[in-house]
This record gives sequence, C-alpha cells and structure tokens, in this order.
Amino acid sequence: MIIAIDGPAAAGKGTLARRIAAALGLPYLDTGLLYRAVGRLVLEAGGDPADPVAATAAARTLRAEDFARGDLRDAAASKAASQVASIPEVRAALLAFQRRFGNENGAVLDGRDIGTIIFPAADIKLFVTASLAARAGRRHAELRAKGDEMTLEAVREDLAARDEADARRAAAPLVAAADAILFDTTEMDADAAFSRALALIKARAGSRALHGEHL
Ligand code: CDP
Repeated sequence: MIIAIDGPAAAGKGTLARRIAAALGLPYLDTGLLYRAVGRLVLEAGGDPADPVAATAAARTLRAEDFARGDLRDAAASKAASQVASIPEVRAALLAFQRRFGNENGAVLDGRDIGTIIFPAADIKLFVTASLAARAGRRHAELRAKGDEMTLEAVREDLAARDEADARRAAAPLVAAADAILFDTTEMDADAAFSRALALIKARAGSRALHGEHL
C-alpha cells in the first residue's frame, strides 16, 4: 500500500506520516530530507543551490548517510532545499529512489509531489494544510525546542516564501492531486490529526476493498 501525504511547509505532514506509518506497519520516507540534503551538500561545497549544474551533481551522488544527518532542519537548509527543488534535473535524479523505496514494501511518503508525480496511482492521497499562522506557530515551537532562536516573524516569512516558490515553480509545483483528500489541521492538535487521518484511510481502504480493489 502506498500512502501519499503532500502539502505546504510545516503543515504537520511529517508527524502525521510517521504515526500513520507506525500504525499500519509501513516504512516511512520524509522526501523533504532528500532536497534538504542536496541543498546542504551544495552549500558545503561552496556552491549556489540555485545553480542547476552544482545541484544536479549533488543530487546524483546523494547517499543514504547524507539525508540521515541531523543538521537539515535549519533556515539555511530549508532555503537551499526549496532552491534545488525547483530544478527539474534534481527532481529527476531523486525520483527513482523514491519510487524504489515505495515499491519495495509499500510506504507512507510525505512531500509536495508524491500524489501527483512520484506515485500518481497511490492508494490513498492526503493533502494536508493549515493556516499560515498555525503552521508558523508550530514550526517556531519546534525550532525553539531544538535551541534554534529564529523569531516567529522570520519563521512565518520563510514558510510563506517557500510556499510561494513551491507553488509557482514549473517543475512539480505544489498542488493537490485531483483525487486527494483535503485535510485541514488548523484546528487540530497532532493527536486529533492522527486519529482522524487514520479513520479516513481505513474508511477509504475498506471501501476500495469492498469494490474488489487490491490494496
Ligand atoms: O518540513 P517542511 O514542510 O518545512 O519542508 P520539507 O517537507 O522538508 O521540504 C523542504 C523543501 O523541499 C520544500 O520547501 C520544497 O521546496 C522541497 N520539496 C519538494 O520540492 N518536493 C518534495 N517531495 C519534498 C520537499
């Protein structure tokens, strides 16, 4: 079973996806980490993440340990991720890895284009949103808990800028798949979002099974 969870920055996709994966016994892939790792590699090499040659070279040589590192969540990595993510060759280089990961044993994947490009035939697609204010508040608290002193205003600006760039880019723009379930978590905490999403997934999986489809 493939479950695609897409949506704008800091909508709570990661927390939700991880919990759904654990509940259903499926592997989980945070695809944002791939773009963050590519951006970080380019920065470390002294390059410009907006440079297609440098970014594509980094994407083609990405190894598992590059996206398992702990320093991929800061503001510099976020910005660089959004920049490399607009380059079609970077996206092409990361596509095969994502499909292989999902096809091995099924998976829950979160990102921006899982339901539209990576797994257009995913069994379940959720498009997770929340107001900009709610997303900024959550990300700010998350960063502060890690000792990152970014201000709420700076967090809000970063999210708005990345959403805008992600939605406007020509390559795999941020958009809900036509058959995605829209899931607005503005008024939900993490526990409520998880139990509602799990119920939706079970209902959808159950109705598909009733119609003879194999999950
Ligand atoms: O956690 P947050 O929502 O802030 O970001 P993320 O999911 O880690 O993604 C970081 C950046 O990578 C995004 O702003 C996108 O530009 C890009 N991305 C993408 O283009 N496609 C994906 N499947 C995942 C991330």
